Amino acid sequence: MPKARFEESEVEIEKLRPEHAPLFDRFISDSVDENSFLRDDALAGQMFRLSDTYLLVEKKTRRIVSYISLYIGSFKLSRKRTFHKVKIKDKPYSVKRLRHMPCLIIGRLATNKEDEGKGAATLLIASAIKQAHRINELISFPFLVVHAYKEKIPFYEKKGFKIAFTPSRKARVHTMYVHLFE
Ligand SMILES: CC(C)(COP(=O)(O)OP(=O)(O)OC[C@H]1O[C@@H](n2cnc3c(N)ncnc32)[C@H](O)[C@@H]1OP(=O)(O)O)[C@@H](O)C(=O)NCCC(=O)NCCS
Repeated sequence: MPKARFEESEVEIEKLRPEHAPLFDRFISDSVDENSFLRDDALAGQMFRLSDTYLLVEKKTRRIVSYISLYIGSFKLSRKRTFHKVKIKDKPYSVKRLRHMPCLIIGRLATNKEDEGKGAATLLIASAIKQAHRINELISFPFLVVHAYKEKIPFYEKKGFKIAFTPSRKARVHTMYVHLFE
């Protein structure tokens, strides 16, 4: 039976702060890397302005249900892709100093195991897209990107992400993007 989804009124998105640290222990996602990032690296990453982490917190219990971390970067995109009727291999995309497309990157995304399938990650992706639009008022970049584990490709495809270029068969992660202005 499908699980009940979180209502937006039941949860809050909070930017990570040192006061959240006591909540980390109760957060256990299916991925060891994602768990240890939250515990060991997220606050330092933020302090050194390398990335920002946002928590989806259940209001009633103050549990961390899910989190996303975001940073600024760039990525390679197939030269055949077309946006606004212009191919990536053509101007204005293709200028000498712009070999990689500027973007906001989802560095980490994970949901507490017992809360999977209740729409938490979907809410955080939607919020990241809104955030990307807000930042775009000051600094331009056309894409939101994730380097997705192979087994998570169908999840991101469901959320509207496309594969950026044909990866090698051995690749553990695949770069995926959404265009923010289509
Ligand atoms: C991937 C992850 C973040 C999804 O979080 P979530 O809060 O359960 O996601 P949501 O509930 O918002 O969305 C789940 C949807 O994705 C689908 N989904 C989840 N994993 C999927 C997969 N591997 N393949 C296809 N669909 C998948 C579900 O069927 C559901 O579909 P629906 O929206 O149509 O109902 C979570 O499974 C997780 O934390 N995994 C471990 C960490 C990880 O691998 N992170 C990704 C790094 S690339």
